[in-house]
Amino acid sequence: MKNFYITTAIDYANGSPHLGHAYEKVLADVVARTQRLQGQKVHFLTGLDEHGQKVQQSARKEGVEPQALCDSIADEFTGMCRDLDISNDDYVRTTEPRHKRIVQKILQDLYDRGEIYKAEYKGYYSVRQEQFVQEKDKEDGEWPELFGEVTEITEENYFFKLSNYQDWLIDWLKSDEEVIFPAYRTKQVLEFLKDPLNDLCISRPKERLEWGIELPFDSGYVTYVWFDALVNYISAIGYGEDHFDKNWPVDHHIIGKDILVPAHAIYWPIMLKAAGLPLPKGYLVHGWWMMKGAKMSKSSGETLDPLELAQKYGADTFRYFVMREMTIGQDSDFSQELFSTRYTAELANDLGNLVSRFLNMTSRYSQGKVPVSTIDEDPEKNVRENWAATHAEYISQFSKFGFNRGLEKLFEFIRGLNQYAGLREPWKLAKSDDPSDAEKVSTALAVMGEGLRLSACLLTPVMPTISSKILELLGSSSCDTWDDRLCWGNSLDGAVVGEKVILFPRIED
Ligand code: ME8
Ligand code: MG
Repeated sequence: MKNFYITTAIDYANGSPHLGHAYEKVLADVVARTQRLQGQKVHFLTGLDEHGQKVQQSARKEGVEPQALCDSIADEFTGMCRDLDISNDDYVRTTEPRHKRIVQKILQDLYDRGEIYKAEYKGYYSVRQEQFVQEKDKEDGEWPELFGEVTEITEENYFFKLSNYQDWLIDWLKSDEEVIFPAYRTKQVLEFLKDPLNDLCISRPKERLEWGIELPFDSGYVTYVWFDALVNYISAIGYGEDHFDKNWPVDHHIIGKDILVPAHAIYWPIMLKAAGLPLPKGYLVHGWWMMKGAKMSKSSGETLDPLELAQKYGADTFRYFVMREMTIGQDSDFSQELFSTRYTAELANDLGNLVSRFLNMTSRYSQGKVPVSTIDEDPEKNVRENWAATHAEYISQFSKFGFNRGLEKLFEFIRGLNQYAGLREPWKLAKSDDPSDAEKVSTALAVMGEGLRLSACLLTPVMPTISSKILELLGSSSCDTWDDRLCWGNSLDGAVVGEKVILFPRIED
């Protein structure tokens, strides 16, 4: 059976990870874990984009070799994946021989088939920025200060015949409305395709840029970094080898909205088509994390160290926050205030309190063992019905990337369990001598326990560690597969619960 194959963008190795990078990994990880819980075999790839101008410049600025810079940045990014509990199966770095070999193989192949040609390129070049600039970059008819001296230069380069594929690409995008999620982004791509496509310059002369993969047919040039980077999605899974189609075509490329057009929606499908490969089955395109109204990015300086947050509050809390807060496709503002509010209201008060109430009462009224439920009246029936609706809605939302809505629904259910406890008041009934009250106490505990067990199972892809911890405290095993573990039942009968713990300590600022 083919694996469910998902990828993230590979991050630029010219700076430390920030919230945007962390979010994308968490999002992909939640997709991966959800698939695994549903019985799919998953291959989850992420990695680092190490070549190109930006990396060469950063290395120079720091006075180190580009490879040394990349190695230290790679440590930071893989460290982030570890600390955020990202379950990627592979990590690809574009300086690895397995990647370089495939980039060269594809280039040679396209060159041999006449898809790549050499031509003169004329344009304005900013020496300071070491890049070509365009008339439209001028401000009030002048080149901005930032560019330094701008001169018109002519250069020989290699070009990939994108323009030959324009009509084909439009047809493909129109024929499959599901391929890009959210679907409205397809319009944006089609809009871009209204103008004729230019062929893509895929080379950089070594006098300008050394830090790249040498063209196999001309040692005077290195490969343009986007052409190099996109190939990671197939180089890492062994393009050209027998096991390649165990993963390819990819189920979802998970990327931010800034790199859909032109890289992922124009260059990449055309590169695949020209190489005779099947096209991606899906793109999952998320929006940006903003801070004080500006995109968080290395260049804006408005960044946030995700690891600091994760260290302070725990990886699962961080994961919960970003998944609960963001609607896929839209931008989200990050603020410490919002983070603290959700933490306190949802995690500490709704979930944390329910767990400690349950453990507390089970130890006091039932010798630390989950009792049997014997009563089935309206309050119990309501909880069960709520569970059925919550379960269905959660799964359906997760299958269409509505993670925030699924979580919202689950936390309504968790609040409902707290209300159920408030209605049954086992702490009062426990004082009564009436045997029917004792049955109500047992039933209330059993229902709370079962509701918590099921909630923890649903929360597993988002909060893997906390979910396992809750299940352990309930005397249950961690949730490796969903199917029948999501059915309401009496699976906790007689389970020995753990000692009361504080899962979400109060935030002190
Ligand atoms: O674009 N909010 O690398 P990158 C959400 N190397 N997502 C954000 C973000 C923010 N504030 N800032 C960045 C590159 N991202 C290329 C990709 S793929 C073959 C090559 C996302 O480090 C961004 O949208 O600039 C992208 O998906 C990823 O982080 C890496 O960005
Ligand atoms: Mg970027």
